Amino acid sequence: MQASRETFGNRFAVVMAMAGSAIGLGNIWRFPYIVGEGGGAAFIIVYLFSSFFLSLPILLSEAVIGRRTGANTYGAMEKLAPGTGWKWMGLLTVISPLIILSYYSVVGGWSVDFFAKSLTISFIGESGEQVSSLFGRFISSVWGPLACHTVFLGLTALIVVGGVKGGIEKFSKITMPVLFFLILLMVAYSLSLPGSKAGVDYLLRPDFSKLDAHAVASAMGQSFFSLSLGVGTMLTYSSYVNKQENLIYTGVGTAIFDLLFALIAGFAVMPAVFAVGLEPAGGPGLVFSTLPYIFAQIGISAPWLSGIVSILFFLSILVAALTSSISMLEVGVAFLMEEKGLSRKKATSLLFLAAWLLGCLCSLSFGPLSEVKLLGNTIFEFCDKLTSNFLMTFGGLLFTVFVGWKMKKSEVYDELTNGGTLRPNVRCFGVLYFIIRYLAPAVIGIIFVTNLLG
Ligand code: TRP
Repeated sequence: MQASRETFGNRFAVVMAMAGSAIGLGNIWRFPYIVGEGGGAAFIIVYLFSSFFLSLPILLSEAVIGRRTGANTYGAMEKLAPGTGWKWMGLLTVISPLIILSYYSVVGGWSVDFFAKSLTISFIGESGEQVSSLFGRFISSVWGPLACHTVFLGLTALIVVGGVKGGIEKFSKITMPVLFFLILLMVAYSLSLPGSKAGVDYLLRPDFSKLDAHAVASAMGQSFFSLSLGVGTMLTYSSYVNKQENLIYTGVGTAIFDLLFALIAGFAVMPAVFAVGLEPAGGPGLVFSTLPYIFAQIGISAPWLSGIVSILFFLSILVAALTSSISMLEVGVAFLMEEKGLSRKKATSLLFLAAWLLGCLCSLSFGPLSEVKLLGNTIFEFCDKLTSNFLMTFGGLLFTVFVGWKMKKSEVYDELTNGGTLRPNVRCFGVLYFIIRYLAPAVIGIIFVTNLLG
C-alpha cells in the first residue's frame, strides 16, 4: 500500500479528466447517427433521461466506491468487502479497460494517420469511392496501421507515466477546452455551408414514431458507453478526488459536458453531411470516409479552408480519443502500483506491452488475420462486442448492486453528502439511493440479459 496518493488539484481538473474519459469516439461517430435514426429531438429527450436517471447514478456508484477507499478497483473491493469474492470483480475491471484500450488504440491509430494525411496530402478532388478505398486499403494493410497504433498507444503511455497531476490532469485541463473550441469552430463552418439545414432537421425534428423499444434501448446503451461506465474508469478517477469535493456536482458536470459535446458534434457533422448530399452513416465510415469526402468536395471551391478544417477535425478526434485512452490505462496502472508494488513507469510499460500485443492482433484482423474468427467475429469485433455488450454492462450491474446492497446505506450517505454537510445532496439522496438500489440494477440487468440472448 502506498503512503501518499496523488489527488486531482480542484473541481475543474476532476471534471475535465472525467469528461475527457467520457468524451470520445462514441460522441463523434455514434451519437449523431443514432439520434437521427431514433427520432431526433424525441430521442434526445430519452437520452437526457437515461443520462441523468440511469447513467449518472451508476457513475456515482463508482465514485462512491472510489473516493471512499482511495484505492484501485481491486484494492477498493478488498477494503469494502474483505475476504469476499468481490475482489474478483475488482480484477475483472482491471482487465476490461485493457481490452477496450487495445482496439480503441487501433482506431486512435487511424486518426493519427488521417491527421498526418491531412497535413501532407489533401483529399481535394477525390471521388467518394477514391476516399473510401483509401481508408479501406489503409486499414487492411499491415505496417501502416501497426505503426500508427504504436504511436497512439505510446502517446497514451507517455501521458500516464506523467502521473495523475502531471500527466492526466495537465493533459485533460489543456486539451478539453481546446477540443470544445475546435468543435464549435467546426459547427460554425458546417452550418455556413449551403444546404446544411437538412442536417439540422435530421438531428432535431421530433419523430415520435421512430421512438420504439429499440431506440430507447439504444439511448440507454449509448449514454452508458459514452460515460465510460462499468469498467472501473470512473472508480479509479474518483479515487483521486479529495474528500471535500462534492461528488454529485462532479458527476453532473461530467454528464452535462458529455451530453453537450455529443450534441455539438452532431451539429458539426450532420449539416456538412447533408450539405454535400450524402446519406448519414455511423461508425468508422463516418469519420474516415464520409468526412474526408466532404472535405474533398468543399475543397474544390475553398481549398485552404478545407485543408485547415480537415487538420483541425482529425486533431480533435485524436485528442478526444487520447483523453479516453489514458483513463483506460490508468485503471490497470493504479492496480499494479498499489497491489503489486510496481513503479508507475514499470506498470505503464507492462500494460503498454499487453495492450500493444492485443491491439496488433485487432489491427491485423482488418487484413491478414481477417479470416480468424471468434464466435463468428473478427478479433477486433470480438473485443468490441465482448466489452461493450457484456463486460461494461456486467460491471455496471455489479457496481450498483455492490453500492445498493453490499455497502451500508449510512456509508453511501456519508460519501455522497460528505457526512451530511452538503444540503442539496442530502435532499436528493433518497431518490438517488432508490435508483442505485432498485432501478439501475433492474434496467442494466435487463440490458445485459437482452445482450446475452441477442
Ligand atoms: N466513453 C468513451 C467514448 O465515448 C468510450 C469508452 C467506453 C470508454 N468505455 C470506456 C472510455 C471505458 C474509457 C473507459 O468514446
